[in-house]
Amino acid sequence: MSRKMKNKVIPNLRIERIAAEGKCVAHYEGKVVFVQNVAPGDLVDVRVTKGKSSFMEAEAINFHEFSKDRIEPFCSHFGTCGGCKWQHINYDLQKQYKRQQVVDQFTRIAKVEIPDVLPIIGSEKTQYYRNKLDFTFSNNRWLTREEINSGEQFERNALGFHIPKMFDKIIDIQHCYLQGNLSNDVRNELREFALKEGLTFFDLRNQAGLLRNLIIRTTSTGESMVIVQFGEDNSLDIEKVMTFLNSKFPQITALLYIVNLKKNETFHDLDVITYKGKDYIEEEMEGLRFRIGPKSFYQTNSEQAYELYKIAREFADLQGNEVVYDLYTGTGTIANFVAKNAKQVIGIEYVEAAIEDAKLNSSINGIKNTIFYAGDMKDLLNDAFMESHEKPEVIITDPPRAGMHEDVVRMLLKLKAPKIVYVSCNPATQARDVALLSELYMVVKVQPVDMFPQTYHVENIVLLTLKK
Ligand SMILES: C[S@@+](CC[C@H](N)C(=O)[O-])C[C@H]1O[C@@H](n2cnc3c(N)ncnc32)[C@H](O)[C@@H]1O
Repeated sequence: MSRKMKNKVIPNLRIERIAAEGKCVAHYEGKVVFVQNVAPGDLVDVRVTKGKSSFMEAEAINFHEFSKDRIEPFCSHFGTCGGCKWQHINYDLQKQYKRQQVVDQFTRIAKVEIPDVLPIIGSEKTQYYRNKLDFTFSNNRWLTREEINSGEQFERNALGFHIPKMFDKIIDIQHCYLQGNLSNDVRNELREFALKEGLTFFDLRNQAGLLRNLIIRTTSTGESMVIVQFGEDNSLDIEKVMTFLNSKFPQITALLYIVNLKKNETFHDLDVITYKGKDYIEEEMEGLRFRIGPKSFYQTNSEQAYELYKIAREFADLQGNEVVYDLYTGTGTIANFVAKNAKQVIGIEYVEAAIEDAKLNSSINGIKNTIFYAGDMKDLLNDAFMESHEKPEVIITDPPRAGMHEDVVRMLLKLKAPKIVYVSCNPATQARDVALLSELYMVVKVQPVDMFPQTYHVENIVLLTLKK
């Protein structure tokens, strides 16, 4: 059946609900059909793009009825840009779907007893909530079907986002609703300047061109960092660009650049040059200052990060005499945030530069009861570590999307901390890990938090306590 189904058109399919990763679910002849870019309630004709024995994937090719829950997307790039795919669904429903995702993952994957999943904590800002955006320059702008059909010649240089699944096609962004004014102004002014000056935009296929990448980071303290990556070591042109940004945007507090002649845009191994101002920006939370360097991770929705950390602290319920492990600590933000309520906090993370920042963040805030270690969690958190450190009363763990390595979960089962606070940006892997932990732990609270409105992503915090 599977191959034969490919390209088959299924008419009049009623979209039922949203499943993991933002895909919508319908049924056809008893099989699940996953459909992208639709909304529950839509009635559509779809073309099957993938046919497996147990499910199909399909794309909508014709809409007969639109769901009553649909709203008008606010962004002109909606549908092409991969950024805010849920703009056509109202925010209350988005939150409901996100919470439901957590319920579904825990029922289907974890298969453990859980209390009622708490109502999701929504984000007050549903637009302009990000503190960091990353734009790519390209000489291969994505053209719309209408543009191609018109037969006209268009400007092909672009500065914007990658088209999903196409590494060399960039959508030219005119206005992005994810980050505030400075971001839109810097991007648009820089693009205009580069076009006027005839500077080259990067050719992603042939790996050539001056202008490569633009990163803009902002903070609630009013500081901002702009990093330009150049694909050529051409000091005259680099100077031209940086002088322009400096004179046009004197409010930028950290104006930096990188010469990147490598095959990819990552720059953890490259020198970052300070053109003007400081080489970091600072975020503030409950009077604590967090220094963010060009290579440091910081949660991209600062306001919701605060909500997330408050829940983690509430679940940890520290009395002041506990040893806390903060696993996957990044730049030690959670560790430093809870430090004043604990006897000692031990943070572990594999990016060495992040650990340097974590230590710095403790020292600039006068925090003396934190220790940080850099290393891969599964190698560092072993029997020897357990023997040479005090055992934790509370473990806070915030792994990447892949969740925790099985060895790490096993180690947690050995450590037997009375309490684990598990923060996750992927409830599916979190549910998998919780299933393993359920050998010794029970789930006491489940609290989803929305960090990324207009997307299907959901953050989730689970409180686990050791079974008696
Ligand atoms: C979701 S972030 C958590 C950041 C931090 N808790 C915060 O709120 O800012 C996950 C972190 O895990 C780190 N990481 C990923 N894999 C790791 C591993 N195998 N061992 C140690 N750290 C790892 C990443 O570098 C990243 O900083």
